[in-house]
Amino acid sequence: MTDPQRGAERGIATAFAVTVAGAVLAAVAYMAGHDRLLLALGFCAAFAGLAAGFTLWAARLLPQGPYVGEREPMRSPPQERQALEPEFERPAGRLPRRMLTAALGALGLAGLFPLRSLLVHGPSPAVALATTAWRDGVRLVDQDGQPVRPERVPPGTMLTVFPEGHRDTGDSMALLLHVEPARLDLPAGRERWTVGGIIAYSKLCTHAGCPVGQYMRPQERLVCPCHQSVFDVLRGAEPVFGPAARSLPQLPLRIGPGGVLVAAGDFPEPVGAGYWRTM
Ligand code: FES
Repeated sequence: MTDPQRGAERGIATAFAVTVAGAVLAAVAYMAGHDRLLLALGFCAAFAGLAAGFTLWAARLLPQGPYVGEREPMRSPPQERQALEPEFERPAGRLPRRMLTAALGALGLAGLFPLRSLLVHGPSPAVALATTAWRDGVRLVDQDGQPVRPERVPPGTMLTVFPEGHRDTGDSMALLLHVEPARLDLPAGRERWTVGGIIAYSKLCTHAGCPVGQYMRPQERLVCPCHQSVFDVLRGAEPVFGPAARSLPQLPLRIGPGGVLVAAGDFPEPVGAGYWRTM
């Protein structure tokens, strides 16, 4: 017949082994490219194993009640105390203890990885939020990855562009528009940021980050479909209606090798929702 204590110990050890496996999975997912689903599954398994192990330990290995506290006499006879002592001092078993140590150790190590991200991995959040993939000389490409020549944007049209090699980074999306150069009234210092009336703005609305996608050509306005903020294309995309309080950041442009459009630098200010700028 199976010893019930041995069976419980094996169950507890298995639960803590799940914690170890989950922690290892989380660590591997982190090292292999920050796969968030695997990372979450790893930590879920680790904590579920820990919870199951403790629950089994409490339910199966610790002394079970019910216990009745007699008022008289207050002190148990020596024989009863001697008989009960082993129950409290009985070791829970070496296997569960070892696996608990391993589980807590593995979980602690896996928990160090997020700390590493904060301390040494990549730019600080402030830098990451303030910059995009645009740099001086980076070519503008369309959604198929094709470089964009000025002829690709006839007057009155709009084109969504990305920095070459970064079509998957949403914060770098920009809108390319072609307006009459003589009508432009840009903020001082931006006279050379356009190429023959071709002008580029961040596509992320400065209210809550929706993509600004509607172009009212006659009025030269851009409209955000989320809460109807309206931006004046000719005047540096300053907001003229709606909840957005900040202009769409403008991307400086120039002609690069081969006659294609390239950026002359990054956006001069953070793109997207502006709430965190006050922090
Ligand atoms: S997100 Fe554009 S107006 Fe609200």
